[in-house]
Amino acid sequence: MTSVWQDKVILLGVSGGIAAYKAVELASTLRKSGAKLRIIMTENATRFVTPLTFREVANAPVYYDMWQEPQSYDMAHISLSEEADLALVAPATANIIGKLAHGIADDLLTTTLMALATPLAVAPAMNSKMWENSVVKDNIAQLRQHGIKVIEPETGHLACGQIGKGRLPKEETILFELESLLWPQDLAKKRFLITAGPTREYVDDFRYISNPSTGKMGLALAKAAKLRGANVDLVLGPSQIEVPRGINVYRVTDAMEMLNTAASLFEQADVVIGAAAVSDFRIEKRFSGKVKREIWGEKVNWPLIPNPDILASLTKKRVHQIIVGFAAESEDLIRNANHKLDQKELDLIIANDISRQDTGFAVDTNQVVILGKNFKRELNLLSKEETAHKIMDTLVEIWL
Ligand code: C5P
Repeated sequence: MTSVWQDKVILLGVSGGIAAYKAVELASTLRKSGAKLRIIMTENATRFVTPLTFREVANAPVYYDMWQEPQSYDMAHISLSEEADLALVAPATANIIGKLAHGIADDLLTTTLMALATPLAVAPAMNSKMWENSVVKDNIAQLRQHGIKVIEPETGHLACGQIGKGRLPKEETILFELESLLWPQDLAKKRFLITAGPTREYVDDFRYISNPSTGKMGLALAKAAKLRGANVDLVLGPSQIEVPRGINVYRVTDAMEMLNTAASLFEQADVVIGAAAVSDFRIEKRFSGKVKREIWGEKVNWPLIPNPDILASLTKKRVHQIIVGFAAESEDLIRNANHKLDQKELDLIIANDISRQDTGFAVDTNQVVILGKNFKRELNLLSKEETAHKIMDTLVEIWL
């Protein structure tokens, strides 16, 4: 499994805010993921964290002075900007945002960014009053207009003791948004509707029937689509997984709720993917409270009724939507998957062998076969993220 960051050269700019210490963690994570870092600090940033800290943690050269002895005879601001696959300024202070918006290049970081030919993201962090300042707002809008990605700050406790918007987002958020700069935006303007996770069919108020699905495959699909520019609605059954911001998540409990939510989002969707492990049946009449053990008697007799098939009911309403299902099978994988492709009138089905330890439920890897009416693509054992991108590649190739 290769990380998307493997061997990517990332220029990390650090400006002088208290969140500079968080950039150290970020640099460490990127290094562990295989990225090669080049770090430029502003003079003010060096007052919060020393260049030595970054050098040791990121195992990378750290530049902070325009006039320092060159490490080679290339002009530092040109060679650094040419070498990078992408650049990130984190934290980005109101000062550097203003400079970038107005073309001021008065130190190594701003000069290097001015010469940059690769994508740039900034992660602003500042006091909430500064963030709300109309000049800062205008500058942020300017950056966006110039194609710079702005990773919006979070709301929470600020260093000044106040609560407000201005915190540097957590690492996963920054890395997810940064990653989108590495992908072609080939799903831009497309809307995805994805079902994911298990459903819970309650027997009484405290007990339910479910399955071990964690929602990982569905989330990987949602993330892949989002990274490639799509708008994503994720209808998610009970799950512990964290959904990155920017993905519209609708949390549901049982199959009927999943069906109603998915149906309400169907019309606006271009692509629908059913990755949820929906319970095939539900209790006909749910008991209230916590039913006492004695009530069940000698033999437990719960009348079960079938749940509607969510995907099959959506295909009936299809106008232009491309509809993709999953077939989690423990035997006769291809034959059973092809049968579901026809029966549910799907465009594609992802056949998934769940009899193996390393594929299917609750693991991070998967090996699938993508099947269409006249189409078959066998994938290797890959991470769920890589599998999701291959599925997106197929959708782009065939339809989008
Ligand atoms: O028939 P089976 O449950 O194996 O079909 C799997 C595919 O159908 C998956 O894509 C799953 O999300 C979808 N499905 C559904 N509604 C159900 C059962 C399955 O959408 N009630």
